[in-house]
Amino acid sequence: MSAAAKSDDFEIRVCGVEDGDRLMEFLLEHYYPEEPLTAGCAPPEPDENDKKFLLSNLPYANCLLMLHNDRIVAAAVAGPKDAGEVDVLFEQAAKLAGTKWGRILGILAIAERDANVFKRYGVDKALHLHALSVDSQMRGRALGERLVNALAALGKELGYPLLTADCSSFYSSRLLQRLGFDVVNRIPYTDYVDDAGEQIMRPPEPHLALETVALRL
Ligand code: COA
Repeated sequence: MSAAAKSDDFEIRVCGVEDGDRLMEFLLEHYYPEEPLTAGCAPPEPDENDKKFLLSNLPYANCLLMLHNDRIVAAAVAGPKDAGEVDVLFEQAAKLAGTKWGRILGILAIAERDANVFKRYGVDKALHLHALSVDSQMRGRALGERLVNALAALGKELGYPLLTADCSSFYSSRLLQRLGFDVVNRIPYTDYVDDAGEQIMRPPEPHLALETVALRL
C-alpha cells in the first residue's frame, strides 16, 4: 500500500510514532470507554500499562489511521507476533496479577494458547490487530471494514502470512467475520473465572465472548 490511500474524503495512512498523542486522545474518547474488556472490569479507566502497550506498536509502522479533514475518524493498532507470544502473555499476566491490565492479559493469554494459530495455520509469524475503533458518531458506515481491509493489504505487502485479532466486542467479531476471518477460538466471559470461581470480566450486553479470528493473507 502507498503511504496514503485516498478514496472519497477519507484518507488511510500509517500511524507514525509522532501521531501517538493524537491517537491516544482518539482512543480515550472512542475506544476505551466501550471496549468490552476495559468496560468489563474495574476501575473504568484504562490501565497505564495498557495505553503504553498500544503505543509501543507504533514503531513497527503496522498501525493505521483513517482521517477525514485531518481529523482521526478510525484507528487500527496492530503489531507482529510469533509462537513465543503465548509465554510472554502468561508471564506478563502473572507479573501484573491483581491489576486491571493483568486481568485483561490473563484472558488474552488463554485465547492465544487455545487459538494456537501458528500450529493451526502452519505459519511462523502473524500480524495481530490489538485495537480497532471508529468514531462513535460515524459507526455503521463501513469505516471499520475499510480500515481492516487496508490493514490486511498492508500486512500482505509486509510479508505477514496471517492477520489475527481477539474480538472482545460483538461488533468487531461480526465485522471481521463479514470480511472472511475464521473464528478459531471462543471464550464466553462467564468461563473466565478466578480461583474462587468468580467471573473476572463482566462486559455489558451484547458482548458475550472473546472471539479470536484469523485471516490468511
Ligand atoms: N455500539 C452500537 N452499535 C454499533 C457499534 C457499537 N459499538 N458498533 C457498530 N454498531 C452498529 C452500527 O451503528 C451499524 O448499525 P446499522 O446497521 O444500524 O447502521 C452496525 O452495528 C454495523 O456497524 P459496522 O459498520 O460493522 O461497525 P463500525 O465499523 O462502524 O464499528 C467497531 C465497529 C468495532 C470499530 C466499533 O463498534 C467501535 O469502535 N467500538 C468501540 C471499540 C471496540 O469495542 N473495539 C473492538 C474491540 S477490539
